Amino acid sequence: MTDPHAAPGSAAAAGLAGPTLVVSWAVGATLVLLSCGGSAPRDLDGAAARGATLTRELGCAACHGGADQDAEIGPSWVGSWNDEIVMSDGERVRFDASYVVSSVRQPDLQRRGGDWRRMPAYDIDQLTDDELNDIVDYLEALG
Ligand code: HEC
Repeated sequence: MTDPHAAPGSAAAAGLAGPTLVVSWAVGATLVLLSCGGSAPRDLDGAAARGATLTRELGCAACHGGADQDAEIGPSWVGSWNDEIVMSDGERVRFDASYVVSSVRQPDLQRRGGDWRRMPAYDIDQLTDDELNDIVDYLEALG
C-alpha cells in the first residue's frame, strides 16, 4: 500500500522508492547542513580559493587557522565577517575589507581588545594589494 503521507527518507518512502530516493535525500540533507551558518565553506570561488592558498603560503593560517584548521595564536577568522570588534582603546570596528587591510599592513595602529600577541606586518613586497584582495575575499567567504 502507498502511504501518501510518508516523509522522504522515512522507512515507508524508502521501501517504496528504493535506494535512489534514500541517496538523494541524504545528499539533500547534507547540503542543507553545509549551508547552515557556522560550517566552513568547502567550495571557494577563484579569488577566495587563491586567498586561502595565500594564507597557508604566507603563514597566516599557522596563527589564524582557516576553513579546515583551528586558530592557534591569532583570532579565528571563521564567522568573523561583519562582526563588531572591540579594540583595546574601546573603539568598535567592523570586521570588513578595510579592517582586514589595516590589520595586515599596519597591525600595530590599532590593537584588538584582549590578551593577544602582536600580529606581524606584511608590506607590499611580501603581499601585493591584489593578493590582499584575494585574502579579503577568502575571509568574507568564511562568513
Ligand atoms: C605570528 C602569528 C600571526 C601571523 C603569521 C599572522 N597573524 Fe594576523 N593576527 C595575529 C594576532 C596575534 C592578531 C591580534 C593582534 C592584535 O590584537 O593586535 C592578529 C590579527 C589579525 C587580524 C584582525 C583580526 C581580528 O579578529 O581582530 C587580521 C584580519 C589578520 N590578523 C590577518 C592576517 C593575515 C591575512 C595574515 C597573513 C598575511 C596574518 N594575519 C598573519 C597573529 C598572526
